[in-house]
Amino acid sequence: MRDEVFLINPKQWKQEVVSGTGLDIVGIVSKAFPQAKHILCLTDKRVASLYPDTIKGLQGMGSELLIIPQGEGQKSLSRLEWVIDALAYRTFTRDSLFIALGGGVIGDIGGLAASLYMRGMNLILIPTTLLSMVDSAYGGKTAINLKYGKNLVGTFYPAQLIIVDTVFLSILPPEEWVNGLAEVVKYGIGFDAGLFEELEAYVALGKPWQEGDWGEWIPRCYRIKLDIVKDDLHEGGKRMLLNIGHTIAHALERWGGYGLYSHGQSVFFGMKAEIGMSRKEGYLSDIDYNRITALLDATAPVLSPLPPSIDELLPLLQWDKKRREGRGVIMPVVKGVGKGEVEEGSKD
Ligand SMILES: NC(=O)c1ccc[n+]([C@@H]2O[C@H](COP(=O)([O-])OP(=O)(O)OC[C@H]3O[C@@H](n4cnc5c(N)ncnc54)[C@H](O)[C@@H]3O)[C@@H](O)[C@H]2O)c1
Repeated sequence: MRDEVFLINPKQWKQEVVSGTGLDIVGIVSKAFPQAKHILCLTDKRVASLYPDTIKGLQGMGSELLIIPQGEGQKSLSRLEWVIDALAYRTFTRDSLFIALGGGVIGDIGGLAASLYMRGMNLILIPTTLLSMVDSAYGGKTAINLKYGKNLVGTFYPAQLIIVDTVFLSILPPEEWVNGLAEVVKYGIGFDAGLFEELEAYVALGKPWQEGDWGEWIPRCYRIKLDIVKDDLHEGGKRMLLNIGHTIAHALERWGGYGLYSHGQSVFFGMKAEIGMSRKEGYLSDIDYNRITALLDATAPVLSPLPPSIDELLPLLQWDKKRREGRGVIMPVVKGVGKGEVEEGSKD
């Protein structure tokens, strides 16, 4: 079992990450919050049906359970209001405990509800998808979507504790592995040439992703993220780098009505498009472009139905959160394998 503590400035928010396989989740929660009397656990229907013992364990320590349907559509204002109402109805207080057990959707809406209710209550995330274990659980971004754009309403509210138990990956469906890989490949492309090489080598072996070196790769990804976030919680600068592929991805998700393409599928599509832009603008050599494209092609799903052209997506960038008044959209570009940088551009 690994137990790591990361401090996020300027408030020195503490994010403790406990990771391993077959963890004693109830024991870890009780140790971290011995005083918590009122606990609410938010999860989705699929996770609740697949992991009844985890749910029973949390209920055994007094957690009340809130189950919502799965899917990106749940990141809505109406669902947010419903979750916050549930906290108020049960007379939760600031020092009560909110546990979000699930993938990135549960973490994003649960984190937002926990950050807003009484201006912030204790929060634990227990990520259950690869995507949430490598990326979404860390760094404190919470959000819901609006019809105009993705993640437009949210807060920066780091969970105090993140419990990463790879046991949850044991029956993760293949498409969710691919969704998670999108963020793993992103870390290789933008930050860690060594990880990129390991992923290339792994693809060459032709082995299933399930058998990958996740005990090492997961901590590697969250350390990269937290190392960046620690000095830029509010995304004033270098945190934008974590958005490689996400500018186009978020436009595609919105274009598809938050259901046609998953977040991971969209990030793959966005990375391919943005790598192409980096080459076109002269930032990326043909050699590195070909190498990155080969890894993306080997890991990315073929989108069905066919996605729109980039030209159709560009008008949606006006709702991108990295747009600055009078300065266009600030986008990460890739200048080589493992070398992402942030550049300002215009919508054109
Ligand atoms: N906050 C952040 O920093 C951040 C970063 C990246 C992505 N995100 C957000 O994360 C979301 C995507 O997350 P996601 O890919 O985890 O999607 P998700 O939460 O919708 O989960 C995907 C599916 O997997 C199921 N599932 C969850 N755990 C499972 C398990 N252990 N076994 C089998 N099935 C399981 C879920 O029920 C769901 O149907 C998007 O909304 C995206 O915007 C947030």
